[in-house]
Amino acid sequence: MGTAPLVEQKSIPLFKVFIPESVLEPLREVLFSGIVTEGEQTREFERRLGEYLDTPRTLALNACTHALQLALRLAGVGPGDEVISSPMTCVATNSPVLAAGASIRWADIDPQTGNIDPQAIERAITPKSKAILYVHWAGDPAPIDEINAVARAHGLKVIEDAAHAFGAEYGGRKLGSHSDFVCFSFQAIKHMTTVDGGALCCKSEEDYRRGKTLRWFGIDREARREELFWDYNIQEYGYKYHMNNVTAAIGIEQLKHVDRTLAAHRRNGAFYLQALQDVPKLAHLRRSPKAKAAFWVFTMLVEGREAFVTKLKAQGITTSIVHVRNDAYDAFKAFRRRLPGVDAFASRYISIPCGWWVTEDDAQRIAEIIRQGW
Ligand SMILES: Cc1ncc(COP(=O)(O)O)c(C=O)c1O
Repeated sequence: MGTAPLVEQKSIPLFKVFIPESVLEPLREVLFSGIVTEGEQTREFERRLGEYLDTPRTLALNACTHALQLALRLAGVGPGDEVISSPMTCVATNSPVLAAGASIRWADIDPQTGNIDPQAIERAITPKSKAILYVHWAGDPAPIDEINAVARAHGLKVIEDAAHAFGAEYGGRKLGSHSDFVCFSFQAIKHMTTVDGGALCCKSEEDYRRGKTLRWFGIDREARREELFWDYNIQEYGYKYHMNNVTAAIGIEQLKHVDRTLAAHRRNGAFYLQALQDVPKLAHLRRSPKAKAAFWVFTMLVEGREAFVTKLKAQGITTSIVHVRNDAYDAFKAFRRRLPGVDAFASRYISIPCGWWVTEDDAQRIAEIIRQGW
């Protein structure tokens, strides 16, 4: 007795799955249509997604991890090659490099943004470098122009992991068409979910055509079949990475809602930026004027992180670091090197809830609790 709060405080999760009621009818239709694998809905989702991102060479896939794997293959990355990447991301960014049989060369991040530093990329280049791979941390675009300039100067391919950054913009354009390859995730807790799913946007028509074939065992499903439907060749081995009609049917509905979802994320992000200015022991990340962030979560740098997390937890508010620096894992230990930017960021970063489920009142309550100190 005596320990329960008098007024039950509403708990606020860091992530929440958004599924609109309107998916039920199209789902029912597709589930009983007899064609649940890649077909009409997949093509329709792919077309609408390409339109939304303003990049027609878009492939709908079953995961962002597979989009990254496919991008690495299309970029020609294989055994003996090095991919320049940052460890400050989801392990799904970097695992595909190992699956491709290549090595990773870590480039440091800018500790004030969490994103990879173009100058550190330049310093990490070796004769074995083949591609640059990087995440847009928490949906805040990395310096794409500077990274592409380094890549051009050294003949490297660029792969953006935009899993956190659906709808984010850079230089007035949505992410999707700035680099050779841009990968998106529609996994459960992203801005837009198809339960599981992903997409790969390709800059070149050649990569797009080849990617389309490789996502389905290397079979060109659009080639005209002659009398015998098995009369086709497989030029090179492929994968089973295509999106299916069921998840695509969800995606078609989600696209109708995503602008409203994004607007709520951005409203909360803008609110925190203003409401949490000048809070002792708290610093905002630096944001580029060229970028319009998608605020998947709201990341800040805090002193005394454990006390911060404990204080918010006691008020029912979930916070998290979300991703552990990948070079801490044994799977990546061969690539360890000194990364002072990652060290500085990793010791202080924390993310608070920012998504569509956080009401204006919730955001005010969160800000008020933080302003009281920890
Ligand atoms: C940065 C990043 N990249 C890639 C992925 C992998 O996405 P998926 O689960 O769609 O394969 C995730 C998360 O799931 C992620 O956070």
